[in-house]
Amino acid sequence: MTNNFAAGAIAAMAAFAVVPQAGAQEALNLYCSVQVEWCQATANAFTRQTGIKVNMTQKGSGETLAQIRAEAQNPRGDIWFGGTGDPHLAMAEEGLAEEYKSPRLAELHPWAVKQAEDSKYRTVGIYAGILGIGYNPELLKRKNVAEPKCWADLTKPEFKGEIQVANPASSGTAYVAIATLVQLMGEEPAFDYLKKLHANVNAYPRSGTGPIKAVARGETGASISFMHDAVTEELSGLPAKANAPCEGTGMEVGSMTIVKGARNIENAQKFYDWALTPEAQRIGAEVSKQLQTPSNRAAPTPDKAPRMDQVKIIAYDFAKYGKASERKRLIDRWEKEVGSLPR
Ligand code: G6P
Repeated sequence: MTNNFAAGAIAAMAAFAVVPQAGAQEALNLYCSVQVEWCQATANAFTRQTGIKVNMTQKGSGETLAQIRAEAQNPRGDIWFGGTGDPHLAMAEEGLAEEYKSPRLAELHPWAVKQAEDSKYRTVGIYAGILGIGYNPELLKRKNVAEPKCWADLTKPEFKGEIQVANPASSGTAYVAIATLVQLMGEEPAFDYLKKLHANVNAYPRSGTGPIKAVARGETGASISFMHDAVTEELSGLPAKANAPCEGTGMEVGSMTIVKGARNIENAQKFYDWALTPEAQRIGAEVSKQLQTPSNRAAPTPDKAPRMDQVKIIAYDFAKYGKASERKRLIDRWEKEVGSLPR
């Protein structure tokens, strides 16, 4: 696998080894919410391809939305690449996104196009990811705890102090987890579940990938994480695995949005079209071991990527849970009724 990655990475690099066409003063301010290695590789490949200098800032999905809101009167970012789809939809609804219909839309999977339609062409899907339960098989074996296969397992007494999930105010992953549980169980049972889970949680890190990194380092036994984030750790040789919860689970449509009033709007549109090409969509897997399902139908789904057709996925209501008011209501409720409880 590593060799395939290396070979693929070289091929991907070669594909972008084009002489820069534009002047050095050209720039693009990129906000990025996938893992930093992919953000950096994407920025570098785009610069090599176009000569446009990229200033990249990596932050979680909730944090990036908060920053874009705070800068609304004087936008500093041009385009936001990656991160869970719900806050991108909220951004579109709040009038903080530019409308753009890429000529590449016809090449995308229906779930990616739906994201564009739901937002009146103010955001678009760039990848999909499945929410799962991460765990460290070695650590759990040493503690004589069976691997968690169902949401119900995470509230058992043997997981006391063994679970991490990110904070939903900063992390899109954690918001997808709450919205998934609400859709699976109904809101009241989901909040009862989250309160029980809270008793077993040892930390709510800021970033969505914080919990699976802690699992991989042996600092905690289990996490709520995107399944592909566990594969990234495993491909680095660390003991992390993920299961799709037996009751069913939710998913993300990782998205991309141009900031309303972007100073470098033409460059943002160029980046947008380029990021939807199969070539650009190979970078995550080939350069930085990030194995989401790419949105361009011609982009290969990496061998080790968790397969959407092999998991029980709920009909996640992106339009509803991407509404700014619904997102705020659920996060506020979580902070008041769950996050602030003693453990
Ligand atoms: C990781 C995952 C992405 C996800 C992102 C959300 O990078 O690989 O699929 O979109 O986390 O990050 P956040 O910190 O907002 O949960």
